[in-house]
Amino acid sequence: MSKSEFLNFSHQPVLLSEVLEALNLRSDGIYVDCTFGRGGHTQAILNGLGPSGRVLAFDQDPEAVQAALSLTDKRFSIIHSPFAQLGQYIEKCGFIGKVDGLLLDLGVSSPQLEVSNRGFSFMRDGPLDMRMNPENGESVAQWLSKAMVNDIAAVLKTYGEERFARRIARAIVAIREHKPLKTTRQLADIIAAAHPPPRKGKREEFKHPATRSFQALRIFINRELEQLQQILPQVLDVLVPGGHLVVISFHSLEDRIVKRFIRDCVRGDDFPQEVPVTKDMLSPSLRAISKPIFPTAAEVAANPRARSAVMRVAERCK
Ligand SMILES: C[S@@+](CC[C@H](N)C(=O)[O-])C[C@H]1O[C@@H](n2cnc3c(N)ncnc32)[C@H](O)[C@@H]1O
Repeated sequence: MSKSEFLNFSHQPVLLSEVLEALNLRSDGIYVDCTFGRGGHTQAILNGLGPSGRVLAFDQDPEAVQAALSLTDKRFSIIHSPFAQLGQYIEKCGFIGKVDGLLLDLGVSSPQLEVSNRGFSFMRDGPLDMRMNPENGESVAQWLSKAMVNDIAAVLKTYGEERFARRIARAIVAIREHKPLKTTRQLADIIAAAHPPPRKGKREEFKHPATRSFQALRIFINRELEQLQQILPQVLDVLVPGGHLVVISFHSLEDRIVKRFIRDCVRGDDFPQEVPVTKDMLSPSLRAISKPIFPTAAEVAANPRARSAVMRVAERCK
């Protein structure tokens, strides 16, 4: 695939005008896009900066990094790394405490879902992989080939809130005894067969029975929630006082982590219960600057991927 083809598998950036407003761009500011994808947000940020502005982006997917290399703008650089390593890269660049805005647009990109050989989608048959960085760690097929029923069920329940987690886990283990699990279609069929038929008139009637399990396995194999938990505290050192943190989540597990982190930082230092505390002793590290922001009906109609997005914004305290 050529460089331009990588960019042609486009990803429509979610909440674009809301992100730009939330980042409160300064013409000579330094911005970090932790989830480059196909660079929709990055490009819009660059368009809003002057000649001395900077955008530093991260992505752990080698194909996203390839796409980023086609963006020849001297104000831009790409780092091929999980964003949980934010602090060490920002330190190398000499930008600790200097970043004016940081964006996390979580989850997977449209090209990851649409290219069948990445194995993210039950709609397309391909190798059962789902790693954002296929050069690192175990694929879903490798993990499922040896995981215990209890562990599979726990993953499906915890990360997918799948009601039939145990039935699905048992079916996977029974079938893999006879035939190795290698493709997304095989897994989707096993899950569909293990699911009871949808109840008439219920919302799940319209959802593929593999939706929740595929989400769960993807979150687990990429350690998505751990990555998020690791980056958030680092953001406090990276942002300049007055700098903005902008996070777009796509499911309640991610959003809960972001919401709690912002809430705790807004509350300030944690003292033991018996210590008398006055407000000025608390030194909050963040200020929430808006209520959660959701896409408009028009955006969801134009880009159905936006439907579950929720954006939270906070400012580093001075
Ligand atoms: C929703 S897409 C971002 C789309 C992007 N904002 C755009 O406009 O094109 C998420 C991207 O973040 C990357 N990503 C997800 N988790 C990551 C992590 N922990 N570290 C680095 N990159 C990650 C994925 O590989 C994917 O390319």
